[in-house]
Amino acid sequence: MNPVTVRVPAKVNLQLGVGPLRDDGYHDLVNVFHAVSLFDEVTAVPADAPKVTAEAAPDARIAMESVPLDGDNLALRAARLLAAKLGVEPNVELRIRKAIPVAGGMAGGSADAAGALLACARLWKADLALPSLPELAAKIGSDVPFALLGGTAVGLGRGERLTPLETSGSFHWVFATADGGLSTPAVYAECDRLREAQGQQVSWPRASEELVKALASGDARALGAALSNDLQPAALMLRPSLRRTLDAGRELGALGSLVSGSGPTTAFLAESADHAADLAAALAGTGVAKQVVRASGPVPGATVV
Ligand code: C5P
Repeated sequence: MNPVTVRVPAKVNLQLGVGPLRDDGYHDLVNVFHAVSLFDEVTAVPADAPKVTAEAAPDARIAMESVPLDGDNLALRAARLLAAKLGVEPNVELRIRKAIPVAGGMAGGSADAAGALLACARLWKADLALPSLPELAAKIGSDVPFALLGGTAVGLGRGERLTPLETSGSFHWVFATADGGLSTPAVYAECDRLREAQGQQVSWPRASEELVKALASGDARALGAALSNDLQPAALMLRPSLRRTLDAGRELGALGSLVSGSGPTTAFLAESADHAADLAAALAGTGVAKQVVRASGPVPGATVV
């Protein structure tokens, strides 16, 4: 059996509409996912026992000490789940090369889980009809099915019920990473707390028509104006310094800016690839980010390389 390597993209949420808290502890969402060209790689190598190792991709400033290498690792959980489904031993070493920030709101852990699912399915020559991989993915985490699918898609329910959205051309992004991660459950809990403290009546979120139209026509300016994230006030409450980063991007001419998912990575939309390069250089110069990276989207989901 030869090793199998899979490349998996990060995501940014173009709209994250958060509905009321459900009985199962999750929130119903309208979650517009957009896969961007910042990739982790997962290599599945036959081994005597399940194991995971991780390293940073060249030039990526990743907090590797925060990547769990035990049973909490989502990629390892994905491999075990697939092995159980296939009735095989989960004897695989997963070698992860990370460029997606850890606990950064760009679904890096979910990307690694999706990568592990696809790599192990190929390694073990899983005779699974493809639709069952997304089903397994949803058991691992709400964002894992999208990491398999890629592109741009709206996710309902926990975010796992996906419908691809039509887009034109490419959108050019700048991402500012931050020191230290944010815990997704903590950000959702803060969102609930803020809403309750403000006496907010939480209604069911709806997909933004302006956003859907901007994606279909490839209109970056309209997309920038339509970006929204209901978790942003909570992320800013937990990490007030992000406001300075968002302000800096806006002042430097980003078409739109927002916290990516539950943060603390912030995302800035540019007009063109050249504009993104200028914006990235200027933002790096302000010193408000740990690292500034450029990426474009949409890109395909998990792919064997
Ligand atoms: O599904 P996943 O394990 O990635 O979710 C992590 C946490 O994020 C959940 O335990 C929950 O606190 C929160 N979450 C939520 N509603 C969603 C997705 C995630 O409240 N739709």
